[in-house]
Amino acid sequence: MADGNGFANASPTAGDGIVPGGASGSLRHESAAMHVQGSAAYIDDLPEPRGTLHLVPGLSTRAHARILSLDLEAVRQVDGVVGVYTAADIPGDNQISPVGKGDEPLLATTEVSFYGQPMFVVAATTRGAARRAVRLAKVEYEDLPAILNVAEARAAGSPLVWRPMEMKRGDVEAGLGHAPRRLSGRVTVGGQEHFYLEGQVALARPGEEGEMHVTSSTQHPTETQHMVAHVLDRPANLVTVEVRRMGGGFGGKETQANACACLAALVADRTGRAAKMRLDRDDDMTMTGKRHDFVIDYDVGFTDEGRIVAVDMVLAARCGWSADLSGPVIDRALFHADNAYFYPDVRLRSEPLRTNTQSNTAYRGFGGPQGVVAAERVIEEIAFATGLDPLEVRQRNAYGTHDRNVTPYNMVVEDSITAELLPELARRCHYVKRRQACRAFNADSPYLRRGIAITPVKFGISFTATHYNQAGALVHVYTDGSVQVNHGGTEMGQGLHTKMVQVAMRELGLGTDQVRITATTTGKVPNTSATAASSGADLNGMAVLDAVRRIKRRLVEFAAAHWNVGEDEVRFAPDGVHVGHRVIAFAHLTRQAYFARVSMSANGFYKTPKISWNGDTGQGRPFYYFAYGAACSEVVIDLLTGEMKIDRVDILHDAGQSLNPALDIGQIEGGFVQGAGWLTCEELVWDKAGRLRTHAPSTYKIPACSDRPRVFNVELLENAPNREYTIFRSKAVGEPPFVHGVSVLQAVSDALASLDGYRTCPRLDAPATPEMILRVAERMRHGNPPA
Ligand code: MTE
Ligand code: MOS
Repeated sequence: MADGNGFANASPTAGDGIVPGGASGSLRHESAAMHVQGSAAYIDDLPEPRGTLHLVPGLSTRAHARILSLDLEAVRQVDGVVGVYTAADIPGDNQISPVGKGDEPLLATTEVSFYGQPMFVVAATTRGAARRAVRLAKVEYEDLPAILNVAEARAAGSPLVWRPMEMKRGDVEAGLGHAPRRLSGRVTVGGQEHFYLEGQVALARPGEEGEMHVTSSTQHPTETQHMVAHVLDRPANLVTVEVRRMGGGFGGKETQANACACLAALVADRTGRAAKMRLDRDDDMTMTGKRHDFVIDYDVGFTDEGRIVAVDMVLAARCGWSADLSGPVIDRALFHADNAYFYPDVRLRSEPLRTNTQSNTAYRGFGGPQGVVAAERVIEEIAFATGLDPLEVRQRNAYGTHDRNVTPYNMVVEDSITAELLPELARRCHYVKRRQACRAFNADSPYLRRGIAITPVKFGISFTATHYNQAGALVHVYTDGSVQVNHGGTEMGQGLHTKMVQVAMRELGLGTDQVRITATTTGKVPNTSATAASSGADLNGMAVLDAVRRIKRRLVEFAAAHWNVGEDEVRFAPDGVHVGHRVIAFAHLTRQAYFARVSMSANGFYKTPKISWNGDTGQGRPFYYFAYGAACSEVVIDLLTGEMKIDRVDILHDAGQSLNPALDIGQIEGGFVQGAGWLTCEELVWDKAGRLRTHAPSTYKIPACSDRPRVFNVELLENAPNREYTIFRSKAVGEPPFVHGVSVLQAVSDALASLDGYRTCPRLDAPATPEMILRVAERMRHGNPPA
C-alpha cells in the first residue's frame, strides 16, 4: 500500500475488503464467510485441553418438592465418571441470582422449585458416560403444592417475585366514567423458547493460584465473571470470562448462561482439570427460562370517533421460580403497553407472579412486545366497536404534539413519527386496495380467508436500570498500522463486531483488512453491561469512537509537529493520512509515531446522557430516544385445518442513519420472523406435573424457511438521522423489529372477523396456532359469545 517513502498514492485496491462506502455502508458481517464455510469457531468447536471433563446436570423431576434423600452412589460407579458434585461442594456462595435477590441456588439443596432444576452435576471423561450416569441417581421427594401458571398463582395468592409497578397519569376512574363508550376484556399472550442454535455451553480452565478462565456463550461476560467468583469464593481479578461469538442469544444468554459457566468452573476448580458443559437440547429447554407469558386485562373508555379517553390495564406474568430479570422485563411490558398511542388518563399495573416453572428471563423486546400485543388488542376492540378501519383508529390515537405526547411514565415523546409512518407505509404497500380485495375474496370463499393489518412500533432505547447505560473499549494501534479493537459488547450474530470495526475504519480511514476485532474478554474491558436492550452498538460504538479519537488526537499532534503543518491540516482518509499536501500511509505514520514514543493504545468510555428513571416513583426519562417502524402483513387461513400462511409483508423501519443497512435489514427480517413465530406457531406446553412437554424441536415449532412471507419487502426509513447524538446518528435495531410480528396476529384476526361479517372483535389470543384459529373460528360462527 505504501512505497519506500511511506507515501501512498493510490486509492484502496480491489480485493482489500473495502466495498464502496465500506466504513459507513453495507460491509458484510465480519464472520460471514466463516459462518457459511463452517469455520467460525463456537465453544464446542474449540480444541479441548488434555483431560477435559464433560458435565451433565442432574435435574429434578418434580415441580415443587422437598428432597428427602439424594443417593448418587450408582452414578459414581459408572465407568468414566470422575466426580459427582452437589451444593455441598461449592466453596463459595451457592447463589446465582443476577439481581441480588438470593432466590436462585446454583444447585438445589433441600427443596426443588421447578421440574428441571439442577440438583447435582456429573463429571466424566466423555459426555456419553456422564449422560448414562446421570439417570442412575435415586431421589426421594416429598411433593409440595405446585403453582404452575398465572391463574393458579392468583388463586393461591402466590407471592410476587418483584415489586409490582403502577404507572398512572390523570384520573383513570373519572376518565372511564365520563367516556362516551367503554369496554373491557382480556388478552393472553404465550411465552417463547429462545431456540438459539448454539445451546448453553461453557468451558472452564483452571490456572495458577486459583485463576479461572471461562469461555462462555454469554451475553454478559462481566456478570458471568462475578457469578463464577462468588461461587468459587474468590476475587474477580482471578476470573476471566471470554466470548468470541454466540450462536444466537436473543436474551436467553443474558443471565441463563451463568449456571453452565459456574458449574464448569466448580468442577474445574475441584479437579484441576478443564471442564466443559454443553447442555443437551432437551436439558437446555427444560432447565432455562423463556419469554414471559402474560394475562392482560384491559378496561378502555373512548369516543364514537375512536379516540381513547382512558385506559386501565393489569398485566400479570408467569415469572417462574426465581426473580431473575422478571422485574425489569415486566416493567418494560408496562413501558410499552401504550405502543405508539396516547392514553389521556391511564393506569397500568403489573403482577409479576412466582410460579413453579423455569425462571423466565430476557427475550428480544424484554417484555415490550407483550405490552404491545395488549395495546393493539385495545385498538382492535375500538375499531370493531366503532366500525372504523383499525388503521384509522391507530392514526387517530398516535402520539402527536403538544398535549398528546406524554407517555404513561410521564416522558415526553418529542419526535413521534407514527402518524406519518402509518399512512406512508399504507400508501407504499397499497393497503386500502388490498384490504378491499381481501374482503371481496372472503365474501365467496368458504374455506380460505384472507386478512390484512398494519401495526406500528415505538420502542424505547436504553436500559431502564440507568447504571447499565455505560460501556468501555480498548483500542490498540500496532507499529505496522494494523488496529485491534476490543469492546465490552458481545457478538451473537447481530453484527455488532462488524459495526464496531466500521467505527474504527471510518475514523482512521482504514480498510477491513487493517482493523481486527478480538474476542470479548473481561481481561481487556472490565465492568461491562450485558449486550442487551438493543444498546450494543449505541454504547460500545461511542466507547470505541472515544478510544480511537484519543489515539487519533495523539497522532495528529505528532504528525503536525513532525511534518511541520497545522493540526487542522492532518486528516485521515481512505487514501491515506493527509498531512498538509502529503498523503502518508497510515502504517508509515504509526511507525514514525512509535519512534517518537507516542502511545498508540487507548481506553474509551461512554455513558448515555439525559436519562434517569426512578422505578419507585415512576418518574423520569428512562429512554434516550425511541425507534419507530410500521409493518403490514397479509395472511390467508384455512378454516378446515387452521393452517396459516403469510402471503406478503411490508416493513418500513427507522434505524436512524444506519451504520450498516445490510445488517440492519437482516435484523429487521430476522426480528419479524421471530416475532411472527412467537405469535403463531411457537407454543410452550406444560403438563399437570409441571413438566415442559415441548422440550425439543419435535414438539416445539419455530418458523421454518417455508414459513417466511412469500413477498417480504423491508425498507429503512430514508433521511432519518437520530435527533439525539448517537454513534453517527444511528438508531438501535436489535429488538424493535421483533414487534412487527404483531401485524401477523392482527391480520389473522382480521381474517377470522370475516366469519361474522366483521361485526365483532375475534379476541384472538396468542399464539394463534392452527388449534387456536379453529377454536376462534368456531366461536365466531356461533355469534362470538364472551368467553
Ligand atoms: N440477532 C441475532 N442474529 N442473534 C441474536 O441473538 N439478539 C437480539 C438482537 N438481534 C440477537 C439478534 C437481542 S435480544 C438483542 S438485545 C440485540 O440483538 C443485542 O445486540 P445489539 O445491542 O448489538 O443490537
Ligand atoms: Mo435482548 S432481550 O435485551 O438480550
